[in-house]
Amino acid sequence: MSAEAAAVSTDTGGASAPSHVAIIMDGNGRWAQQHGVSRSKGHRKGADAVREAIEGAVENGVEFLTLYAFSTENWNRPEDEVRDLMGLLRMYLKKEVRTLAKEGVRLQVIGRRDALSDDIRQMIEDAERRTEHNRRLTLIIALSYGSREELTLAAQNLAQRVAAGEINASDIDEKTFSAALYTNKLPDPDLIIRTSGEQRLSNFLMWQAAYSEFLFLPTLWPDFTRQIFAEAVEEFKNRDRRYGARP
Ligand code: IPE
Ligand code: IPE
Ligand code: MG
Repeated sequence: MSAEAAAVSTDTGGASAPSHVAIIMDGNGRWAQQHGVSRSKGHRKGADAVREAIEGAVENGVEFLTLYAFSTENWNRPEDEVRDLMGLLRMYLKKEVRTLAKEGVRLQVIGRRDALSDDIRQMIEDAERRTEHNRRLTLIIALSYGSREELTLAAQNLAQRVAAGEINASDIDEKTFSAALYTNKLPDPDLIIRTSGEQRLSNFLMWQAAYSEFLFLPTLWPDFTRQIFAEAVEEFKNRDRRYGARP
């Protein structure tokens, strides 16, 4: 067995906690419907559940937590819902960033920033700057994020660099391609959780999810708790990750 293959096989067998957990926070609308309240209220409850995910991550030694908050396709929702979601985001950034900074959380946003309004973009940049030296947990919020768009932009960027003579086409490998994505410098997610019972990726981290473990939960996002997070971590520890190697 080559040294490389040996290094891979020692990685298999689970048991260790995931370093990077990503969550597709789905089900706010259905939660609202079940409780006979507006979708807007469902989204507000969903925003509260973000705290549970952060606490769950910290309590379980997770270093990176990525939350899918708004997809490129979510721009196609009715105007008032998009306005509601952006208002909620504004409130979250205004209210929570101080707490995150104090708790040692580093905040990063991935996604198409130029689609966001100027004031939100400004708040994101301030929050990123303010928390950049924190290391307890890196919280990545996927906002106006779409995996196909991310991959397309990476291809454009690399093509432009080839055209400018900065790199050769043959220099493009998995490493340079990864580095051209929004998630440059971030590890791939070990575990991807989706709430609400849907079992699909919905344009989330398609490149990065190549060897992620998936967990689909029936829980609607507003009902998510740190206990559920802890149970998800336990389930992950029982998975046998092989990366294509022999068991
Ligand atoms: C997730 O809840 C929030 C966003 C996608 C922004 P949904 O609004 O998708 O809730 P359901 O899927 O309609 O229940
Ligand atoms: C995925 O949820 C996006 C987010 C959770 C932000 P959606 O509710 O938009 O996904 P689909 O439409 O059910 O695939
Ligand atoms: Mg949904």
